[in-house]
Amino acid sequence: MKKIEAIVRASKFEEVKEALGEKEINFFTFYEVKGYGHQKGKNLTYRGAAYDIGYIGRIKLEILISDPYVNDAIEAISNAARTGEKGDGLITVSSIDEIINIRTALKGSQAINT
Ligand SMILES: Nc1ncnc2c1ncn2[C@@H]1O[C@H](COP(=O)(O)OP(=O)(O)OP(=O)(O)O)[C@@H](O)[C@H]1O
Ligand SMILES: [Mg+2]
Repeated sequence: MKKIEAIVRASKFEEVKEALGEKEINFFTFYEVKGYGHQKGKNLTYRGAAYDIGYIGRIKLEILISDPYVNDAIEAISNAARTGEKGDGLITVSSIDEIINIRTALKGSQAINT
């Protein structure tokens, strides 16, 4: 079992969701995040108001997934989220020791897709 975490541009979220759906990955958690990349939160001043461009909306996705699907998920996210400009985001993959489905009490990969 793995956990994929991806930070993508908010403007790319719908495309990422569709690309994952095409690989039959229809389960994930997402939330709005703020962060800094190389832009390091440079301020942009427009009409006297300062905008922190490091805070341009990004979405973080978390996907719990069994190992054989990991490469499909990475490919779908990367291809859908890439603009080629700085700030396209990051994907990380980590190992998960255990997953328990609360309703069924099933564990591991059975906890996810049932
Ligand atoms: N080392 C990191 N640890 C945690 N989050 C990060 C890290 N690097 C980037 N991020 C997250 O990803 C977002 C986008 O950063 P990203 O690295 O894609 O842009 P960039 O550094 O401006 O440009 P690029 O890396 O494409 O040259 C950041 O706002 C932050 O939320
Ligand atoms: Mg970066």
